[in-house]
Amino acid sequence: MSRDYKWTYQEDKQWFEEKLKEVFPKSLKTSHQNYGIKAMEYSLQAGGKRIRPIALLETAKAFGVEKDKVLPYCLALEMIHTYSLIHDDLPSMDNDDLRRGLATNHKVFGEAFAILAGDALLNYAYETMLADCVLNFSQGRLRASELIARSSGIYGMVGGQVLDIQLENQNCDEEMLIYIHSHKTGALLSASVLAGALIGDASEEELVCLRSYAQDIGLAFQITDDLLDVTGDVDMIGKNTGVDSDKNTFPHLFGVEKSVRKRDELTNRAISHLRRIDRDLWFMEELALEMTKRKW
Ligand code: IPE
Ligand code: IPE
Ligand code: MG
Ligand code: MG
Ligand code: MG
Repeated sequence: MSRDYKWTYQEDKQWFEEKLKEVFPKSLKTSHQNYGIKAMEYSLQAGGKRIRPIALLETAKAFGVEKDKVLPYCLALEMIHTYSLIHDDLPSMDNDDLRRGLATNHKVFGEAFAILAGDALLNYAYETMLADCVLNFSQGRLRASELIARSSGIYGMVGGQVLDIQLENQNCDEEMLIYIHSHKTGALLSASVLAGALIGDASEEELVCLRSYAQDIGLAFQITDDLLDVTGDVDMIGKNTGVDSDKNTFPHLFGVEKSVRKRDELTNRAISHLRRIDRDLWFMEELALEMTKRKW
C-alpha cells in the first residue's frame, strides 16, 4: 500500500470518477428523462476535487472497510455536494456563471432545470444510500445515512446557507461567522469523515476525536475557499474570484494574514485530535495539511 498522498489521492479520484460515470442506467438516459439526466450529469461530471468521497473512503479504509463497500455513500455525498453548488450558483443565491471551469448549470440549462437537477441529485443521493441499507443492512450504514442526511439539511449545510444569504451586506461577529462556515461547509465535510468511521464500526471515543478533527478541517476548508476568492487564480479554481464582496468571510472580517494564521491553527489542532486515535490515519493527516496548500 502506497503512503504517498498525491498518488493515493489521484488513484482514489480516478476510481471514483469511473464509478460516477455509471451512476445512471442507460435505460434512464434514453427515456423521457434524458434531458433531466443530462442536466444532472453536466455538473456531476464537471470535475472538482472530490474531497468528500475521498475523505469517506480513506477513513473507511483506516477502519478496515474496502472502498467498494462504501461507494454508495461516496456517490451520495458528491451528489449532495453538487446539488448544493448548482443551487448556490443560482441568480437568486450567489449568482455565479462559472463553476468547475464550466458555465454554471443554470447558464446552460436555464434556472428551472438547474433547480430540478439539484432536487433530483439530492433525492438520488438518498435513493442510493437507502438502497444499500436495504441490501446490506448494518447499524453503521444506517447511522452514516442518517448523519449525511442531517448534515445536509437545516441542522447542517442548508442551515448555513440560510444564514450566509440572510446576513449578506450585514456585519456579523466571529462567533456567527464560525457558525455559518461550520454549517454550510463544515457539516458535510465532517459527515464524510464520520460516515467512513461509522461504517467501519469505530468506537464512540474514536468518533469524538474524528468529529473534532473534521470540524476543524471543515472550517479551515471554507477559510481557504474565501481566501482563494481574494488571492486565487480563476483558471486554477474554475470559478470567478472577487465575488464575495457582500458576504461575511474571514478575509473580510480579519484580513488575509490573520485568516491564514487562523486556518493554520485549525489545521494543527485538527491533526492533534487525529493523533489521539490509535489507527493508521496518515492520509487524513496529509489531507488536512494539503488542504491548506491548495490553489484550487
Ligand atoms: C466548494 O466546494 C464549495 C464549498 C463548500 C467551499 P469544493 O471546493 O469542494 O468544490 P469542488 O467540488 O472541488 O468543485
Ligand atoms: C458555498 O460557499 C457552500 C455551499 C454549501 C455550496 P461558497 O458560496 O463560498 O462556495 P463557492 O465559492 O461558490 O464554491
Ligand atoms: Mg454561497
Ligand atoms: Mg457561492
Ligand atoms: Mg466561495
